[in-house]
Amino acid sequence: MIKSPGTWLGGLLAILFVATGAIAQMAPERVPALSGPPQEMGEVEAKPIPKWVVDDARKERAYPDQPPVIPHSIEGYQLSVNTNRCLSCHKRELTQESGAPMISVTHYMTREGQMLADVSPRRYFCTACHVPQADVRPLVNNTFKDMSDMGVKQAGSE
Ligand code: HEC
Ligand code: HEC
Repeated sequence: MIKSPGTWLGGLLAILFVATGAIAQMAPERVPALSGPPQEMGEVEAKPIPKWVVDDARKERAYPDQPPVIPHSIEGYQLSVNTNRCLSCHKRELTQESGAPMISVTHYMTREGQMLADVSPRRYFCTACHVPQADVRPLVNNTFKDMSDMGVKQAGSE
């Protein structure tokens, strides 16, 4: 039997309709509970707020360009247009007294690579990139693989 292109298209659309319906039904299982319990109006017990990791030990970076995570408390540190508490330890001029690692050279560059005498405006709000860590279960499973575990022989390893 020869079918018209219309019949084919109709069939295809019907399959698509059923398939998307099936995927939509699976969706709730794939989305992690990021938004808390489903009964918004009911009273639910509040879990204790996890504690920050504040052991002062600088953490390994997952890749060279990763903004290092903050290993100390930043509770109450003001970070506004007039005051930057982070720079009071981390800027070049103050690192000798504070013992803090200097903000790296990239923090003095404009996005065209031009060097500035002070921190670049695009690096001023530190916590846009640097965050403290808490010891909690990740909301989404992490399948990240360190690039050094992918079979690359590292320079100087023999
Ligand atoms: C009182 C001084 C001080 C202040 C204020 C301060 N830091 Fe630090 N920071 C340090 C010291 C010292 C270290 C080295 C590790 C340690 O002793 O905690 C450090 C480490 C870090 C590191 C880790 C660097 C690495 O290579 O692993 C980051 C990131 C960082 N601080 C970001 C911040 C940010 C963002 C703020 C502001 C919200 C801030 N710091 C405020 C002193 C300070
Ligand atoms: C736009 C994102 C961004 C912002 C904003 C930012 N950083 Fe960074 N920071 C990075 C990245 C990425 C690195 C690692 C690569 C590099 O050095 O550029 C880094 C590295 C660092 C390091 C480690 C330097 C070293 O040599 O080990 C310190 C300390 C640091 N930042 C502090 C700060 C502070 C303090 C501020 C706020 C004044 C700040 N950063 C703002 C992205 C950012």
